[in-house]
Amino acid sequence: MSGASIIDGKAVAAQVRADIAGKVEALKSAHGFTPGLAVVLVGEDPASQVYVRNKGQQTKEVGMNSIEHKLPDTTSEAEILALVDSLNKDAGVHGILVQLPLPKHVNSEKVLNAIDPAKDVDGFHPVNVGRLWVGEPALAPCTPTGSLILAKSVQENLSGMNAVIIGRSNIVGKPMAALLLRENCTVTVAHSRTKDIQSVVKGADLVVAAVGIAEFVKGDWIKPGAIVIDVGINRVEVPGGKAKLKGDVAFAEAAAVAGAITPVPGGVGPMTIACLLKNTLQAAQMQHGLEITA
Ligand code: GUN
Repeated sequence: MSGASIIDGKAVAAQVRADIAGKVEALKSAHGFTPGLAVVLVGEDPASQVYVRNKGQQTKEVGMNSIEHKLPDTTSEAEILALVDSLNKDAGVHGILVQLPLPKHVNSEKVLNAIDPAKDVDGFHPVNVGRLWVGEPALAPCTPTGSLILAKSVQENLSGMNAVIIGRSNIVGKPMAALLLRENCTVTVAHSRTKDIQSVVKGADLVVAAVGIAEFVKGDWIKPGAIVIDVGINRVEVPGGKAKLKGDVAFAEAAAVAGAITPVPGGVGPMTIACLLKNTLQAAQMQHGLEITA
């Protein structure tokens, strides 16, 4: 039996989008401009196509302009860099997202670093990474931002909590550590080389699992009452059936022990695009010298 409350990421994401829609409307009437988000998709990766379609749809739903550039996978690095440069200079574009993965012949780091930090709504540019760590206003990566909002939907004040993040990626683990430090958590970043990871996780009041291994975190690793945020999206083949999505946490076992837990799907996933829109609104406000309300 599940003792944990299940955190409804779809509902929280809908609230975030509704809040953004109101602020976009206010921005339009007070300042006469519409935030614009440009998404660049190179190639035909099926998962990326789905993401990009959803992003476009949700961008329009909150009242922003959606600009999509879909390029063939034969596009050269120089052509992508030229497009990024023109988007950097376009005053109607407040946020730029280059969908990953890029084709193998393209240096992703070079492309991401070419995005104007003021328009870097992914928060991947080293300037934004640095700003986040020193505590300056920064565009922070969307998945950890969404994970933080979900944790705070359970407990607004995270101060003093032992937070254990499993995974040290630039996209999730490291920025999550910065965000949780800012919330005054005591932060541990565990990873594949961590000794006795089970005991480390057992000490956590807040667990953020971002390892990319299905059901890696077991129920008996969880401290009773802990908040568990599962960032994993692992496609697991079911013999004779359709592939199923599994998180990084063994959900049923962990839910029996935790105080609150995010499901997969329906937890962190829906938050990512909502936070991308939040970052786009923030970027637009910053570019116009307005107060940040995003
Ligand atoms: N591909 C999968 N997730 C992401 C993301 O958050 N940002 C970008 N740019 N590409 C992705």
